[in-house]
This record gives sequence, structure tokens and C-alpha cells, in this order.
Amino acid sequence: MSGTPLQWLLLFLSTLLTINLALCLPQNPSPRKTYIVQMEKSLMPETFTEHFQWYSSMIKSVVTEPEKQDAEDDEKIIYTYQTAFHGLAAQLSEEEAERLEKLDGVMAIFPETKYELHTTRSPVFLGLEPQKSTNIWSDSTADHDVIVGVLDTGIWPESQSFNDSGMTPVPAHWKGACETGRAFTKSNCNKKVVGARVFYRGYEASTGKINEKDEYKSPRDQDGHGTHTAATVAGSPVRGANLLGYAYGTARGMAPGARIAAYKVCWTGGCFSSDILSAVDRAVADGVNVLSISLGGGVSPYYRDSLSIASFGAMERGIFVSGSAGNGGPDPISLTNVSPWITTVGASTMDREFPSSVKLGTGKIVSGVSLYKGRRNLSKEKQYPLVYTGSNSSSPDPSSLCLEGTLDHRKVAGKIVICDRGINPRVQKGQVVKDAGGIGMILSNTAANGEELVADAHLLPAVAVGERAGKMIKQYALTNPKATATLAFMGTKLGIRPSPVVAAFSSRGPNFLTLEILKPDMVAPGVNILAAWTGEVGPSSLQTDHRRVKFNILSGTSMSCPHVSGVAALLKARHPEWSPAAIKSALMTTAYVHDNMYKSLEDAATGAPSNPYDHGAGHIQPAKALDPGLVYDIGAQEYFEFLCTQGLTSGQLDVFAKISNRECRNTLANPGDLNYPALSAVFPETSNVTAVTLHRTVTNVGPPVSTYHVIVSQFKGVFIRVEPAVLKFNSKDQKLSFKVTFTTKSRQTTPEFGSLIWKDALYRGWPRVGFGRVVEMPTRHRPNHLSGSDRNVVGLELSGSVGNDCDENVVEDEVEAPPQQAEEWWESWRRCGGGGLRGEGELDWDSGRSK
Ligand SMILES: *[C@@H]1O[C@H](CO)[C@@H](O)[C@H](O)[C@H]1NC(C)=O
Ligand SMILES: *[C@@H]1O[C@H](CO)[C@@H](O)[C@H](O)[C@H]1NC(C)=O
Ligand SMILES: *[C@@H]1O[C@H](CO)[C@@H](O)[C@H](O)[C@H]1NC(C)=O
Ligand SMILES: *[C@@H]1O[C@H](CO)[C@@H](O)[C@H](O)[C@H]1NC(C)=O
Repeated sequence: MSGTPLQWLLLFLSTLLTINLALCLPQNPSPRKTYIVQMEKSLMPETFTEHFQWYSSMIKSVVTEPEKQDAEDDEKIIYTYQTAFHGLAAQLSEEEAERLEKLDGVMAIFPETKYELHTTRSPVFLGLEPQKSTNIWSDSTADHDVIVGVLDTGIWPESQSFNDSGMTPVPAHWKGACETGRAFTKSNCNKKVVGARVFYRGYEASTGKINEKDEYKSPRDQDGHGTHTAATVAGSPVRGANLLGYAYGTARGMAPGARIAAYKVCWTGGCFSSDILSAVDRAVADGVNVLSISLGGGVSPYYRDSLSIASFGAMERGIFVSGSAGNGGPDPISLTNVSPWITTVGASTMDREFPSSVKLGTGKIVSGVSLYKGRRNLSKEKQYPLVYTGSNSSSPDPSSLCLEGTLDHRKVAGKIVICDRGINPRVQKGQVVKDAGGIGMILSNTAANGEELVADAHLLPAVAVGERAGKMIKQYALTNPKATATLAFMGTKLGIRPSPVVAAFSSRGPNFLTLEILKPDMVAPGVNILAAWTGEVGPSSLQTDHRRVKFNILSGTSMSCPHVSGVAALLKARHPEWSPAAIKSALMTTAYVHDNMYKSLEDAATGAPSNPYDHGAGHIQPAKALDPGLVYDIGAQEYFEFLCTQGLTSGQLDVFAKISNRECRNTLANPGDLNYPALSAVFPETSNVTAVTLHRTVTNVGPPVSTYHVIVSQFKGVFIRVEPAVLKFNSKDQKLSFKVTFTTKSRQTTPEFGSLIWKDALYRGWPRVGFGRVVEMPTRHRPNHLSGSDRNVVGLELSGSVGNDCDENVVEDEVEAPPQQAEEWWESWRRCGGGGLRGEGELDWDSGRSK
């Protein structure tokens, strides 16, 4: 390759921009699109009394259509923003936007971006785990004072998960509203769903008026996604919840006493940034304490990412924001929502599965998973003809994928058909087989999915099998003209080992924007999650699915994000004084990195141990997060200081600074010094830096008098020195600082991971530990707004934990984890058309991934 990866990457970025511009810049007349305009509110001339007048007059001054009436200029403004962000969203042509950008008082202009929901839309099967974490604490906490804003597809208020019986009155600090509309009245809000609002002006401006016959122009959730995520955050307990008999048990949210405010920002055609921004702005003003955002779309620089900017404003108001990491895994560098003030949540499995099996004519039995429940079952005793319409080549063809219209009735009628995963939704493949006369389906993973199994509520008997088993079955079907099989379904099984396992679809690091901030932050259950569902569509979301269910099983980082939002609500209830960063720190430093076999967390994509680019600090452990001992706190100004290290122009910084009149005090020598509960030490490749020192400050939130000793992993590439090695606290909330110096001993070509533990052996019999994982990685890419040339990077992740002996053992394992190869990253990056950069308004996470 002639260019370096960096150049190649920048080229890719600029190509993307060019395409976008080309799309929105046809000649004459230039069509209007939505722009979000950030304003400097203090610059409003005295001739105006209200901001809207000012905005309106500015828009008027740039619009070039003299024949249009004045009234229409006001209509060009679709939103004004006042709390988390100051400004407006308006419909403008490219030229008008350019003129507007030059006016006094205009700080920045962002074109509308489309976001996507982070779920595999077609139902994936999962189970909730009610007996573990929730019992320990949900009954005793004052979570009823906490309000969680859920930005999603709305809410299905009739679900028993939103039954408010026995709840105390709505907290006095709540200032939100229950907006009404088609099939949604004031009575649909209650003491559980305390608010419901809709945001569609940006959506309508981009896609045309909502057809109210097809879509509820009200907070009512047609899609099911928003109902599912809201119930996962704070659903009331519902006994006997299940999907078609699967996953039977009591369903409840992580914070069953907390309140939900539904902000509907996603419509059938997607979720638009101006609507999302307006919802965050409203939610902050309404008084939410936590924001749960299971959406994302590509990666853009901090100052161009309106969700990042709005979250910054929310964080300044003390609101904890959790975002889904994305379903772009296992491709590296596929994360979204990576801003340090957002908690970035990846997905992992639980110990529940829905086993099923394939019995071949040879007598061989292969295990798989399924959520099929129906009348047309196949007999376990009989055998049925088996057919695979593909070839034994590794590249699937349209009929082996069971795409619509590709199956020949004569070839498949009366047979069990093998279909490869990919391109179209899994449940739709079943429908295609059924339509062609097939009697069953074996859904085979391809290399992209490895051995990760997703169960679905198929419309015909169907079993999903892993890549290896799939290959074997296909080989059998291809080489035996009389091949036969039958399928069997075994219901719900608990105690699956190993679990948790990092989901293959969960987006991976490293953090493309800033290597020094390790992302994702953590993983939480996101595979086969049972939660409330809309009465509007069937569990498969297919039009042809006429079944109606009260609960559905879904997978995606959309499902893991609300788990963290709910747990954050509980932490907020117990520790109202904790900042969003303290809550995140407590979650990260108490996370664990082992499974229920006491081995390192595995990556479902490879079957090998996962590393911090896959699982962040590890899997959340709510009960321990209540009492983390030490926290790595970060104030709003420090987050801003982090931005000051990111090579932004003062104009770009103003986007964040102006919300609270901030200035760079340059207190951070480098971005790695942000007091993050993870460390990443970056060694430039082309300079001769041999030592990197990073600083951290911990706050004592445990017993006033306590002493911590440090334990650090050994590394091949660096020596590590921690000073001081002992921290003695005398009071609560006391802060003590330490520094970690990495000195290179031999250059490594791959990242190295390890841990740093602060241990207080005397406290309540538990070893009090904080550990982290050290990373050494070669990186030759930098975000485009940084001046870096090719650099070789050594990363160190630290996190802390209240652990037990098991954690310490696992830490040792963790250090042995084989690091990912840089060349693999780039290989995969190229092969897949650019990992994390996809999604600029056109990527559909649902159909693009996890098929
Ligand atoms: C809410 O739950 C209570 C207690 O289980 C029940 O009596 C009541 O009918 C439920 N309300 C609705 C609207 O379903
Ligand atoms: C389907 O399978 C179940 C359980 O194996 C069995 O009880 C039922 O009779 C079967 N139904 C049909 C129509 O074969
Ligand atoms: C594919 O099948 C053909 C014919 O059965 C066989 O000769 C060939 O070796 C197979 N290739 C692979 C990669 O299995
Ligand atoms: C790094 O060290 C090498 C050899 O010691 C030297 O040739 C080179 O100039 C140094 N580079 C920088 C940027 O200091």
C-alpha cells in the first residue's frame, strides 16, 4: 500500500464528507435541509427581548427568497434549544447556512445526522435475571426519587411493566409533561411513566410529514424498542412474564422504583440529531437524573457530534448519560458514543439460553438455539429431507442466504432448508423458507458471527447453529443427496457456562477519537433480554407476524445500555451527592472480568479471552458498585480541560465552553491525565519517548480511615512505577493523588493489558481492590483533528475494583490475554469498509449487523 494507514483513513473520511456534500448539494435551487445552529446567547442585541425574535431575524437575513412571506421564515425554525445547548434547528439551503455561519452570535452549525437504534431488530432470544443483582438492593433503596429519561421510540403505556400501583407521588423536582396525541392521553402517564414527549420536527423536515395512519404521532411506541429499553431501566415487577413460554419468570427493570420519562425521538424512518438534541435539552429542563440513549451513528469529532455536545451540557447539570457502544463488533474501532462524559456500554451474555438441536440422518446431534414455538412441529422421531442450495465455497450466494425470491419451490418444498446468516433479517429467512414450502430451517453462522448463537421467534421450526456445526451440516447436505434431519426444541435453560461472554456484535475499541481514553467503559447484559413489548407488532417485527406478545426477547447494545442506566439510577438514589463521573467510576472499578467458570471473560467472536477493547473495565457488578471504596471523580471543568488537549480551535472549543462560560486553564499536560477510571499510556512511534507519566486522584468514599496498597501487573514492554505505593486516608471525601510512570523496556508490536489494584485488606474482610488492565498497542491512526503523524502507542488501562480472591486470580489471567494484532485491525477495517466510520446517516445498524 502506498499510503500509510493514517493517510488512507483520512482519505476515507474526506471521501465520506464529499459524498455527503454531493448528496445535499444538487445545483439550483439548493434544497433545504436541517441545520442545528449553536448560538452565543449573551451576544443577543438589546433590540430583541426574546431569543426567538433574534434567531428569527437572523434566519430572515440569510434567506434568499424574496417572494416568500415573512411568516414562512419563522416556520424554517423547527426547534430552539435552551438548557443543555443554546441555539436552534432550522431548514436552510447550503448557501444560507454558510451565510448564517458568518453572522455574529453564531458559534457552530451542524448538518442534521440520522441515528439508528442499537438493537438487532429481529427478535433475538434472551432471558432476564431477576434473582441476582436486583434483589440485593432494589427493595431497600430510595430509587423512587430518581427519574430516568429514555430517548427512544416511545412507550406502550398499557404494559404491566409500567403499572404504578403502590408507588409514591411523583417527585416534586419533576417539571416534565405528558404530551398527548393519537392513542395517547394524559391518563397514559402515571407515577411510573411520569413524562412522555415527542420530537419529530427534524424528522418531518428531512423525510416529509408523518403519515398518521401508519405511525402514531404521539408518545405511543409502535416499534417496541422504546418500551423494551424503558422497562429494562425501571420496569415494575411483573410475575409470569415470558415470550411464547420462553424465559418464564418475573420481569423487572434494574431500578424498579425509579420513574421513566419517555422522549420519543425515533420514527419509522430513523432518529434525527435535531430531534435528539431537542429531547436532551428538554429532558435536562424537565429534571431527569439519568439519560439512557440506546442510539448511535458513526463517529465524528467531538465538536461536530451534537449528541456529544448535548451530553456535555447534561453532564454539567449532574445528569448521568449512558449510551450504547454500538453493534459494529467484532470489527475493531467500531465504537460509537465515545465521549469521556458518556458511559459507553457494550453487551455480554447471561447464563440463560434457549437450547434446541438438529439430529442428522447419520445419527449425529448438533446443538443450537431457538425461540420457535408453534403448532407445526417436527417429530423428534422422524427424519425429513435436508437441503442446502449454496455451494461449499466460503462465500455465500443469494439462495444460500435465503433472500426473498431466491428459493425454488421445487427444490425446497417439504424439506428442512439450511440458510446462511447475513444480509436479510434472520426471522425473514424463515419466512422465505416457509413461503417456498420448506418445513424447517437450520440457520448457520458464517465466519463473521463465529459461534455466537442468537435465538429468534421464527415463524417456522428453526434452529440457529454456530459456524463450525453449520459447515459440517452443509458438507453433509452437499455430499448426500438423501440427507435428512429433524429439529427439536428444549425450552429455557439456566446456568449456562461460560457466562457472561462478550457478544460478538458488541462494538470494539480502541477509541478512535482519543486513544488515551479507553473505551468501551463496561459491558452489561445485552443478549437475549426479556422485557416489555408493544402491542402493535409481533415478536419478530415482521409484517407477516400476527402474533402479539406482552414481552419480547431482544439483543443488542441497546439492551445493555438501559441496564447500566437503571443501575446508575440506583447508585444515584443511594448516593445523591455523587457526580456522573463518580457513578461511572464506581461501576468501572467494581466490574469483573471473569466468567462463572472463574476463567477470563471470553469473546464470543473468537472463543478467546476478551480484552479491554472488547469489555472495557469488565462486567458490571451492581451490589459492589454501591460501595466502591475509592472513586476517580471528574468535574465538568476537568472534562473541558480534556477537550483543551484535543487540538481543537477556539471556535470548536466554544461549542462546549459556552454552555457555562468555560476557559482552558491548561491543567492537563495530556489527555491521558484526565482522571478517568482507566489508563492508556500512548508512546509515539516516531519519537524517542521512553517514559510516560500519568496522574490520577482518588476520592475516599469508603471508611474515613483506610489504607490502600498498590498492586500492579508485570508487562513485557514497560516497567511500571506507582508513586506513592500506599494511600492513607483520614477522612471521608479526602482526595489523594498518585502517579504512574511507564518506562519502555522493549517495544511491543501489539497492545498489552494489565491491572492496577488499590487494596485495603482490612476493610470488612474483603480485600479492597482497584484493578486495571494495562494495554500496549501499536497505533498508527490518529483522529483527524490531532496533529499526530504515525505513532506507536502503548496504552494502559486502569480501573479499580472492590474484588474478591476470584478477581485477583482473573487479573492474572487477564494479563496473559493475547492482544489483538494491529495488522488484523487494519485488515478488518479495510475489508469491512471502515468499521466505526460507517453510519454517517445511511448505515442501518439493525440490518447491517447481527444478521
Ligand atoms: C396494576 O397492578 C395492580 C396490582 O397488581 C392491579 O390490581 C391493577 O389492576 C394493575 N393496573 C392496571 C392498569 O393494569
Ligand atoms: C409439538 O411438540 C410438542 C412437544 O414435543 C408436543 O406435545 C405436541 O403434540 C406437538 N404438536 C404437534 C402438532 O405435533
Ligand atoms: C467442494 O466440493 C467439491 C466436490 O464435492 C470437492 O471436490 C471440493 O474439495 C470441495 N471444496 C472444499 C473447499 O471443501
Ligand atoms: C531517535 O533516536 C534515534 C537513534 O537513537 C535517532 O537517530 C533519532 O534522531 C531520534 N529521533 C528523535 C525524534 O529524537
